[in-house]
Amino acid sequence: MKKIISIILVALMLTTILASCGGKKGQTLDDIKKSGELVVYTEAGFAPFEFVYNNEVVGVDIAICEEIAKEIGVELVVKDVAFNTILGAIESGKAAIGAAGITITPERAEQVDFSMPYTTSKQYIIVKVDSDIASYADLAGKKIGVQLGTSSDFIISDAINGTEDDDGNHVAGDFEGTGATVSTYANPNLAAVNLEGDKLDAVVTDMLPAQLIVNNSNGAYKCFELVYPDGSLTDESYGLCVAKGNTELMEVINKVLTNLIETGKIDEYIIYYSTEVVAD
Ligand code: ARG
Repeated sequence: MKKIISIILVALMLTTILASCGGKKGQTLDDIKKSGELVVYTEAGFAPFEFVYNNEVVGVDIAICEEIAKEIGVELVVKDVAFNTILGAIESGKAAIGAAGITITPERAEQVDFSMPYTTSKQYIIVKVDSDIASYADLAGKKIGVQLGTSSDFIISDAINGTEDDDGNHVAGDFEGTGATVSTYANPNLAAVNLEGDKLDAVVTDMLPAQLIVNNSNGAYKCFELVYPDGSLTDESYGLCVAKGNTELMEVINKVLTNLIETGKIDEYIIYYSTEVVAD
């Protein structure tokens, strides 16, 4: 009898654990409608896409998600979390949508599903205004800051540590052996403050966040595009993400995005959150 009870207990526990994982598809459209809330995870140190203004998270991604919540007929709930935890939270169903200026990459697309791209970006390098760093190649031997888990982090960490090819052979990185170092921060703003006092020589982040950090620096910083020595560029596209296979929610997202792109709303949001409502 005891044995049977413990088997039942274990079975019950397993069901609860599985249920609390939110199932395979994360938060479905039905789940969202039932709860009345669209839970969006972001990292709010990334103006103009998401930043804190008057104690509230606002920005381009939030404006987009407001429209998605409106389309579904539920309330938008935005949570500010560490950037490198967003994809996992979407997968496990803690949040329905990840909206954080997330670059669509093949590796990330193995973990989550991405919407259509809603804007493009490039990598930018921020330095002090009197710095003699004027190109990507000049980062050799330098102290470089990035936001943890971002494309900037991957680019700079690979350049410093090297990578592996398909056969497992080491491929030297551009800055390997030059003494260059990479330090990771919770967001690019927290990295940029370390340019003061020369704790860092450069910060690498996405274009618009870099330009706003420079605009807010009272002339202390400047920035320029990351161009590889062979002239190639770092073109990236942003997408919203949902759990793999969450197709009904994705259809709503893409419908709203198509409309916002076609009516020029995304461009309007970018201008508005870069010039009118801006992070301090
Ligand atoms: N686009 C870059 C990436 O996906 C950086 C995104 C950082 N976003 C943020 N909200 N902090 O890796």
